[in-house]
Amino acid sequence: MLDKLNEIEKSALESLADVKDQSAVDAWRVANLGRSSPLMQVFSGLGKLSKEEKPAVGAAANKVKVALEAALEERSKAVKETMLAKSLEEEVLDVTLPGRAVNIGRLHPSTQQLRRVLSILAEMGFQVYTSREVESDEMNFQLLNFAPHHPAREMQDSFYIEAEGREDNPILMRTHTSPGQIRAMREAVATNPQNPPPIRIALPGMCYRYEQITARSEIQFNQVEGLAVGEGITFADLKGTLTDFARRMFGSHARVRFRASYFPFTEPSAEVDVECFVCGGKGCQVCKNSGWLEILGSGMVHPTVLENGGYDPRRYTGFAFGMGTERQLMLRNKITDIRYFWGNDERFLEQF
Ligand code: PHE
Repeated sequence: MLDKLNEIEKSALESLADVKDQSAVDAWRVANLGRSSPLMQVFSGLGKLSKEEKPAVGAAANKVKVALEAALEERSKAVKETMLAKSLEEEVLDVTLPGRAVNIGRLHPSTQQLRRVLSILAEMGFQVYTSREVESDEMNFQLLNFAPHHPAREMQDSFYIEAEGREDNPILMRTHTSPGQIRAMREAVATNPQNPPPIRIALPGMCYRYEQITARSEIQFNQVEGLAVGEGITFADLKGTLTDFARRMFGSHARVRFRASYFPFTEPSAEVDVECFVCGGKGCQVCKNSGWLEILGSGMVHPTVLENGGYDPRRYTGFAFGMGTERQLMLRNKITDIRYFWGNDERFLEQF
């Protein structure tokens, strides 16, 4: 029996020399230490041995088992090391290469600028009010004092969605955020028709115009509208508010000027220019040598518009303004072509 154990040990250790990879390690373990291996059979046959033989054979079998296990352990470590050395040699792995950068998503530049504008206006007490993008002709034009054939409508050739059967009030994509003025006023009036509350809102959103797409004009763009309605609001409030806004937006030294203008829904109306921050007012390509950049349209809310909103123009006054956010971004970052905004070119978007 002891000879047999010696034989088992010898042949097992011999065959271990041929074990060269992980699967051979596993196979060897099953063949030599597994349940039906010769060694294990010796263990299970111990019960049949005589009292005198049993302790000696048992001890010897244990010794063989320990020896085989230790040999296997050592072999398996060696196999792992050679496999690793081999793969390091064969597969070129340059651990000094920098990792691949993961692309991180971000907000669209227009959204970033919208939020900048809204957060400045919020600091100045303007609450965000969102209104619909699909409007009626009545809201978009008529209640804002555009007569059906008013020449100002030509500034805003529109995308009509539906006209059949409602030729006098077709559905269209809003051409500016101003129809939100009427909706906001009517909503406020509904809360207290006798004494409508004052309003101070910022109205952001996409606007649409049926225009030739060029470097300077797109068929869609974002605007932010401002509206303040209350008792005793004057043109001085408009000037103060917009001057303050321009300074917060373009820097505390930004100079602004107000130029008389015309909008059907404001009277008087003014366009606001900010001193060109590219050339500092000396004249350059961006400001077309004028030294000034137009940033928004504004004016005192027309009495007819106040009335259409439900506010008595003998008691209430107000001012409104509207600005294009892509336009501001173009000025700010010297972007020369508005088509980049909706072109979905990551090389452009990534820069913001
Ligand atoms: N709605 C005007 C436009 O789109 C801008 C504007 C808003 C002017 C409010 C005056 C008051 O051009």
